[in-house]
Amino acid sequence: MLCQDIHKAIAPWLDRYKQICVVADEAVNVDWPYPTLRITVSEQDKSLETVSRIWDFLLEQHFTRRGLLIAVGGGVLTDLAGFAAATYKRGIDYLNIPTTLLAMVDASTGGKTGFNYHGLKNAIGAFHAPVETLIYPPFLDTLPPQQFLSGFAEMLKTGLIASSPSERGSEGALWYRLLQYDLDTIDTAALAPLIMDCIAVKERIVAADPDEQGPRKALNLGHTFGHALEEISFVHRTSSLGPLLHGYAVLYGLIAELYLSVTLLGCPRDPLQQLTLLMLRYYGRPVCKCSDRRQLITLMQQDKKNEHAAEINCTLLHAIGAPAINQTVTPAQAEEALEYLFSL
Ligand SMILES: NC(=O)c1ccc[n+]([C@@H]2O[C@H](COP(=O)([O-])OP(=O)(O)OC[C@H]3O[C@@H](n4cnc5c(N)ncnc54)[C@H](O)[C@@H]3O)[C@@H](O)[C@H]2O)c1
Repeated sequence: MLCQDIHKAIAPWLDRYKQICVVADEAVNVDWPYPTLRITVSEQDKSLETVSRIWDFLLEQHFTRRGLLIAVGGGVLTDLAGFAAATYKRGIDYLNIPTTLLAMVDASTGGKTGFNYHGLKNAIGAFHAPVETLIYPPFLDTLPPQQFLSGFAEMLKTGLIASSPSERGSEGALWYRLLQYDLDTIDTAALAPLIMDCIAVKERIVAADPDEQGPRKALNLGHTFGHALEEISFVHRTSSLGPLLHGYAVLYGLIAELYLSVTLLGCPRDPLQQLTLLMLRYYGRPVCKCSDRRQLITLMQQDKKNEHAAEINCTLLHAIGAPAINQTVTPAQAEEALEYLFSL
């Protein structure tokens, strides 16, 4: 829900619960009139230890199953707090207040929660949807430009899977409207309708397939390559990629997977070219050593989306607005896509 005043937007929820606790990202400067655990979070802190800190805080507060946990922060915080809520006393309600663009358009809806384990992204997790997600765009005013671009990459993904050139409804034209957005500025007034349209697309897809048995896999476009790039950049310190923000990894993953969509499924080249131009102008090229490429293939083979070890399962595109889920890509084809990405 889009809101003008965050405290007023929370108010209706307060009557329904016996207790309120807040877990807030240290980077967000808001005072909460409830017991609050402030934590500094980065992808490296997306761990069992941080989940355990949240459980400890709730226990110290004698938090019961009739309480509401409010999660305020970026996607790392909402994923961690959501997992803590999914598991504390077999599950309590939580409400998300995302403060990064990425968390607004993606991480804070859909009910996926979890943390990284043994170097694998989101290896442990649970499906547990928040009771509400409150969108307050002025939080974006303090967001560093790179974090903004990271979130915008997930919006581009949403535009690619949802838009159709023949549809002229707001959702249908999303990809084309996103391409027109001036990425040199953070204009919250212009962004608000785009954010709400991206959320509407995700909610529509998740409602049709909450457990990710089929259509929801469309949302994974860019993420098979993206997660491997993110993992290698964070966890496997030998990589030359150096810590990649989630959305940057997704943008590079989208380019690799659109390349495969063109070569394997005959997808038109336009979106690949449009994304490549955006990458070169705003995101920069990814750098990678040959040894990283072998490790990237191995990581993709270990991805939790795969049903068989050694297989690489991807979502690709037949065309803009026509995702193709459950595509099996061979290691040689994946290597060719990486070759393309790293040669740009
Ligand atoms: N659950 C899902 O469906 C889903 C979907 C997409 C991504 N994710 C997860 O989201 C995570 C990435 O989220 P993210 O990009 O928000 O990163 P993040 O949570 O690490 O936040 C990025 C940085 O911005 C800071 N920050 C937060 N709000 C701020 C604000 N308003 N102003 C200034 N700084 C602020 C944070 O402290 C952090 O340093 C990844 O771990 C990814 O796996 C989850």
